Amino acid sequence: MSSNSTVEPKKIFKDAEDFLPINGTDYVEFYVGNAKQAAHFYKTAFGFQSLAYSGLETGDKEKTSYVLQQGKIRLILTSPITKDSPINDHLRTHGDGVKNVALWVDDARKSFEETTKRGAEVAFEPVVNKDDHGEVVTAGIKTYGETVHVFVERKNYNGTFLPGFREWNSHYNPPTAGLKYIDHMVGNVGWNEMNTWVEFYKNVMGFAQLVSFDDKDISTDYTALMSKVMTNGNGRIKFPINEPAEGKKKSQIEEYLDFYNGAGVQHIAVATDDIVSTVKQLKNNGVEFLYVPETYYDDVLDRVGEIEEDLAPLRELGILIDRDDEGYLLQLFTKPVADRPTLFFEIIQRKGAQSFGKGNFKALFEAIEREQGSRGTL
Ligand code: FE2
Repeated sequence: MSSNSTVEPKKIFKDAEDFLPINGTDYVEFYVGNAKQAAHFYKTAFGFQSLAYSGLETGDKEKTSYVLQQGKIRLILTSPITKDSPINDHLRTHGDGVKNVALWVDDARKSFEETTKRGAEVAFEPVVNKDDHGEVVTAGIKTYGETVHVFVERKNYNGTFLPGFREWNSHYNPPTAGLKYIDHMVGNVGWNEMNTWVEFYKNVMGFAQLVSFDDKDISTDYTALMSKVMTNGNGRIKFPINEPAEGKKKSQIEEYLDFYNGAGVQHIAVATDDIVSTVKQLKNNGVEFLYVPETYYDDVLDRVGEIEEDLAPLRELGILIDRDDEGYLLQLFTKPVADRPTLFFEIIQRKGAQSFGKGNFKALFEAIEREQGSRGTL
């Protein structure tokens, strides 16, 4: 494996096949234990806005869903309301987590055909849903673990979200935190499964490999992992795939796999244009971030060179800095957002850099290991 090799961007996009054009992420659906309260958390803590709702009042007798929006990011929080709903099994196995990563396409049937023809397993066949605002075609294929990619074709629809949902007008509307769009979403897969899923994204989805890290790049004294980053043709969808690597102690990927009981989405990186004010606000709202040792800032500018921002607020907020050939980036990671040490968020601001913060991995993993140590799972 070529260590930390960044491929020329133009080459990448030529490599990515065009049988699956994707406009962007449509939504991310979480299965959670209590959607009503989770929705309150994502509004209050992360600054998401109320968008749409479905449940008993809209004729759904099995589950309740709250849809939240911030910038281009749409989250659905879904909970079962009957004992026989299969969502209960998902929750028992995985806890709160990401079930559906929906991709916005112009032709959901063709997306389904092209990917299943290339070996994708069917999650659900194309289905047309209609209401007074038009129609939406969706279809689903399986990816790692129990995670599903839903293709969403909404060109003949002008409603608030999807048929079956009604507008959610809440009297409680906390300010946004400046989150704009999903920069990348990372999957954790099992031992020696990274290349299987890299091949899946290459062969079935037509993605190209952007970059790879091996355990020499991403290791501390204790833990290690390997990672490859897959991108679609227009670069709007980036899916890094992690697998654990052998270390002296249990890696954070293994800890995730143990608690999630298999492969799943590890983190969602959301972009902001002003990371200092975004992180200040999130912290004030109660979002918990990984602690970065003060010593990180002693020599960080020697490593990354000049940056436009003052170092003081970055140090105060624990924001990390990294640089590549194209520029630099600022990033910060939350602690897990639910009870199991599984899913977390990354806040990222890119100033030219198109990479993922490799230079921060060591400092970051040492921070995660301190957390693992306190959980007794290192
Ligand atoms: Fe990330």
